[in-house]
Amino acid sequence: MARKIIIDTDPGQDDAVAILLALASPDLEVQGITCVAGNVPLPLTSKNARVVCELAGRTDVPVYAGCDRPLARDLVTAEYVHGKTGLDGIELPEPQMPLQDQHAVDFLIETLRAHPAGSVTLCPLGPLTNIATALQRAPDIAEKIAEIVLMGGAYFEVGNTTPAAEFNIHVDPQAAEIVFKSGVPLVVMPLDVTHKALTTRARVEAFRNLGTRVGHAVASWTDFFERFDMAKYGSEGAPLHDPCVIAYLLKPDLFMGRHINVEIETTSELTMGMTVADWWRVTDRAPNAMFMGDLDANGFYTLLTERIARL
Ligand code: RIB
Ligand code: CA
Repeated sequence: MARKIIIDTDPGQDDAVAILLALASPDLEVQGITCVAGNVPLPLTSKNARVVCELAGRTDVPVYAGCDRPLARDLVTAEYVHGKTGLDGIELPEPQMPLQDQHAVDFLIETLRAHPAGSVTLCPLGPLTNIATALQRAPDIAEKIAEIVLMGGAYFEVGNTTPAAEFNIHVDPQAAEIVFKSGVPLVVMPLDVTHKALTTRARVEAFRNLGTRVGHAVASWTDFFERFDMAKYGSEGAPLHDPCVIAYLLKPDLFMGRHINVEIETTSELTMGMTVADWWRVTDRAPNAMFMGDLDANGFYTLLTERIARL
């Protein structure tokens, strides 16, 4: 029985690879892709999601546009990482498949209400604005969500956007606070783990050597995407953040972490959007998240390459 998921995303090259991994995996049934403003504005993220679906030959997957700005703060985007299109690195055709008319938040609420409790997993890969808005508008869905497996936050690795905050949480800290206080079971892929999922020349060439359109696209996106992080961190490659979320659904044993309390800074501008992870359990705050800290990087790339080869 395939696991039903909804991918909430702000493509972004790493989001694109995560979506491809999901679409290549029969273990997962993608109920829909909901788009949010993040790496680039909503018109581009909702276009890019359709570009990826068409690249995968999966125009059957409905794509929805959601919130075009954070709950309370001004939108912050990341063209400096992802390029002005959000999918720089390769020219791909304009999407022909339509965007759904329904708002992403209404799709999230309707789908969760229509399915048995615990049968749908949410996979946010960008700012949590859509998820938080759905929870605020329909509190009854919280108990329907099987779990939320998200990419966001940082603790030992500290922030990548401010000294304290990782991009997805930084863009919409108020939304993150709603999600982290929702009581929904959370699995969090912070920079602590994604920064150990680094591309290397060999790993990128393995995508290119697949000899497929999709393999070529993934290699081209990665070549473009990694230049910023390599310059910033002086690393050999760049972290493929978002595919960690989907890889967890496929092979959870690739990841190691702790079930701890994680709360979001929403008061201080200095540390706004910080995920305050009680890794050493020094407080009596109730654990609310499986916070990942490490992964089997070779196993991750082997899974990713094997699945991408199927498209
Ligand atoms: O900080 C990394 C996260 O921000 C990733 O999800 C990337 O796609 C961007 O959204
Ligand atoms: Ca993302």
